[in-house]
Amino acid sequence: MGRRYRIAELPGDGIGPEVTDEAMKVVRTAAEVFGFDYESVRYDFGGERFLRTGETLPDSAISEFREFDAIFLGAIGHPEVAPGILEKGILLKIRFELDLYINLRPVKLYPGVPCPLVGKGPEDIDFVVVRENTEGLYSGAGGFQYKGTPQEVSTQIHITTRFGVERVVRYAFELARKRNKKKQLHLVAKTNVLTYVHDTWWRTFNEVGEADYPDIKREYAHVDAACMWFVKNPEWFDVIVTDNQLGDIITDLGAAIQGGMGLAASGNLHPGRVSMFEPIHGSAPRYTGQGKINPIAAIAAAGMMLDYLGEAEAAQAVEQAIMNVLASGRIRDLAAGRMGYSTSEVGDMIAAELRRLGSSS
Ligand code: IPM
Ligand code: MN
Repeated sequence: MGRRYRIAELPGDGIGPEVTDEAMKVVRTAAEVFGFDYESVRYDFGGERFLRTGETLPDSAISEFREFDAIFLGAIGHPEVAPGILEKGILLKIRFELDLYINLRPVKLYPGVPCPLVGKGPEDIDFVVVRENTEGLYSGAGGFQYKGTPQEVSTQIHITTRFGVERVVRYAFELARKRNKKKQLHLVAKTNVLTYVHDTWWRTFNEVGEADYPDIKREYAHVDAACMWFVKNPEWFDVIVTDNQLGDIITDLGAAIQGGMGLAASGNLHPGRVSMFEPIHGSAPRYTGQGKINPIAAIAAAGMMLDYLGEAEAAQAVEQAIMNVLASGRIRDLAAGRMGYSTSEVGDMIAAELRRLGSSS
């Protein structure tokens, strides 16, 4: 039996379908070149469907997703739907219900990509943020009292469990070992203010590191300082582990220093189970259907998906194809409408490069 995978596609809203098409074009090419097979099923969950039917993501879809090896998500977010509904009802629901406790976000500057940091190049920007993905301020715990009155009280509870922290910290230590670069793991938190929840992080980080990862150097940065170091000394970082909200924030900064949201990809993982891959960018509704958006973040997310599925060679080739196309300077500017090519032409370019790499290997 050959290698065969089941992939659920959720193109979502806005430019989500356009970039998903290009990501899947590259997956199809990789399958041909590297000799695996896959079956994909498309789901139309997103803003349009919600406006039509009132449904975000039914529980039955979650059960169906469990039968897949991976989920590919384009983008979620619709200008006519109030903030929070689709995010909580679709994206966070998938992360939580499938217990995708790791949000893996590489920050890597590729040659040929303009970096906004003066004097920094590809040798300086190559780290990975491991964001906790099921707890913290994203847990949804909290509520209102006396809502709409002058006495209004609201709470949003930062839920932190030893179990939840330990599993993501262990993953991050393993990753630092596997990367075999600086052999270093940074905890990013705010232990001087969040003296309960981040104390759990601090103790877990040190206990696990001391007991099981003596070969990995432990470093710590407060989140505000980490933002400064991202800009001043990004070369200090190798692997970073952090909580859900801080990880959300610092990875947008990470995307900016690697050349923009158009390049940043992520994987929502539960090792050994169905996991979800997505570009970090949003649905950019005003560009919908115009073919102006750069699909590279989505294609990079597809590369991460192939790696997760066990197709390491194909994954490396996808990354190399992206790097070669970027380094060639053919794409004038990565911003929407300024590439000098359409979304699908950029997808074609990367697919062709992948084919070339595959046939010469
Ligand atoms: C991200 C996004 C989401 C998050 C939103 C859309 C809920 O910003 O994946 O980074 O905050 O996690
Ligand atoms: Mn975000």
